Amino acid sequence: MNKKLSIILSLALVFFLFQSSVSSAKDPMPAKFKYTKKVDELIHSKCYGCHSAEGRSDKAKKALMWDDIPKMTGADQAHILEEILDVTEERSMPPKGMVERKPELKLTDKEVATFQKWAKKMSKRVSK
Ligand code: HEC
Repeated sequence: MNKKLSIILSLALVFFLFQSSVSSAKDPMPAKFKYTKKVDELIHSKCYGCHSAEGRSDKAKKALMWDDIPKMTGADQAHILEEILDVTEERSMPPKGMVERKPELKLTDKEVATFQKWAKKMSKRVSK
């Protein structure tokens, strides 16, 4: 084989191997669970006060910690998404007492739809 050609070919091979090792090292198991920007903003304005390390209610923290969801197994994510679908559909979250004190926390129709669309899409994705 022509020497120059064989050098080019081996360089190409090295480059190819390097590329594939980089991409597999970076992303061994692609994170499927994601918050969209809209959902993230909603969570922060309407849910995060209770369901995060900042929250004061242990009951709320035990029921749901937004920051922990991405680290859960697919089955647990599917389960919590199911609960999120339920509470947003029934509008049982934020809790009634809280909404009475702070009506601005109540979910609007549009916000419920945003949660529902996202949670349904995510449920499908995480249970694949
Ligand atoms: C004022 C505090 C507070 C806010 C704000 C709040 N929650 Fe909760 N949440 C709780 C508490 C307390 C529980 C535990 C209820 C129980 O055990 O009966 C809970 C439980 C849950 C659960 C578990 C299912 C259940 O019924 O136990 C989900 C899902 C949930 N919340 C979603 C949300 C979402 C989505 C939002 C924002 C739209 C939100 N929460 C806002 C206090 C809050």
